Amino acid sequence: MTGTQFQPSEDFAVVMDARDPLAHFRGRFCIPKTKTGDDCIYLCGHSLGLQPKTVSSYLEQELRDWAQLGVEGHFHAKNPWMPYHRLLTQQTATLVGAQPTEVVVMNSLTVNLHLMMVSFYRPTIGRHKILVERGAFPSDQYAVQSQIRFHGFDPASSLLELTPRDGESYLRDEDIESLIDRDGDSIALILLGGVNYVTGQAFDMAEITKAGQQKGCVVGFDLAHAAGNIPLRLHDWGPDFAVWCNYKYLNGGPGCVAGCFVHERHARAWDGPRFAGWWGHDEKTRFQMGPDFHPMTGAEGWQLSNPPILALAALRASMEIFVEAGIEPLRAKSVSLTGYMEFLLRQQSSKFSIITPREEERRGAQLSIRLPGDGRKLCDRLAAEGVIGDWREPDAFRVAAVPLYNSYQDVYRFVQRFSAAL
Ligand SMILES: Cc1ncc(COP(=O)(O)O)c(C=O)c1O
Repeated sequence: MTGTQFQPSEDFAVVMDARDPLAHFRGRFCIPKTKTGDDCIYLCGHSLGLQPKTVSSYLEQELRDWAQLGVEGHFHAKNPWMPYHRLLTQQTATLVGAQPTEVVVMNSLTVNLHLMMVSFYRPTIGRHKILVERGAFPSDQYAVQSQIRFHGFDPASSLLELTPRDGESYLRDEDIESLIDRDGDSIALILLGGVNYVTGQAFDMAEITKAGQQKGCVVGFDLAHAAGNIPLRLHDWGPDFAVWCNYKYLNGGPGCVAGCFVHERHARAWDGPRFAGWWGHDEKTRFQMGPDFHPMTGAEGWQLSNPPILALAALRASMEIFVEAGIEPLRAKSVSLTGYMEFLLRQQSSKFSIITPREEERRGAQLSIRLPGDGRKLCDRLAAEGVIGDWREPDAFRVAAVPLYNSYQDVYRFVQRFSAAL
């Protein structure tokens, strides 16, 4: 599909959908409906992914086992709950390019971010800064500020922000690297989003990791907008840790359990600080209920609590579909769909600008459209008509064509409706 000469007609979109080898996956999802019963044009998978139709049967299995077995379900459910989270380990590892021992599905994103910073943000007088993108997701900003204060430092001097050049909307690779080169000796932790939530910019995580580690910095990524969106090779790229949520491109459902990666070099033998809970304790002796903490090896050693089985069940339904489709074919379609959307938008672009990078390796599925004036009203009006994107203050309308369930016709119709609404 890449290299296709796009055409600005619905017929072209129809042909592209007919040729799309992944088109049938759309039928596996519940597509929200308009008041008149038509499919919405849902371009909001960067915020909340759609529900796989199989979710209810996965949930029903666990509800049945709970009803019939009670506590015995921990060992005798069809999929015993004790090791239930491991049903997601191999799939998660494949998705983020990790060894199984490096990943675990647990908690929520911000909780995991704190757990990782407890272990990996170890400020000293000479090296206490955290490097983030300016305008990082608020939860990340609050988390890093509170960690800095927790260690007795002041965000005013310990928080370093990467800022695009004047008049530019996203960061240049060379500016990230030169800042790391210049200030790296005072940076304890580099924490960037794999894909920025406002602009949709995808960072060169391999290069950033290399540059940071050459300067002795710990490197972590918030992959909320990257996981399930772009291919990841966390083990090879070598960041120290990464965290992500599973409810955006990964369709695990609202508030779904999150993901966490700890590189093997730490995960196998960790003697640094960590906040511990009983589910991180060696499973062989966990139920001896002893007072001393002996961690599991791998990322599992960072678990706190016994996990929410119903939420994991919903995520399993989605991950099965991901495995079947494969991240590489999904990415190929995603590049094409987003390219098509950009092609159509650029033909209409006198009243707005696109603030997402143009290079395909610098973005995922999301395009962010800067709308001057009352852009939010336009976004709300489109939503009322069943065209679902979302708005991020002060001026960004975000839309993502998700390759699992969006079609070329969705993209074509979206641009038509958007232009009309403008
Ligand atoms: C980039 C990013 N980081 C962090 C969060 C916070 O996630 P959670 O509420 O699951 O902790 C979000 C939520 O949308 C996000 O987009």
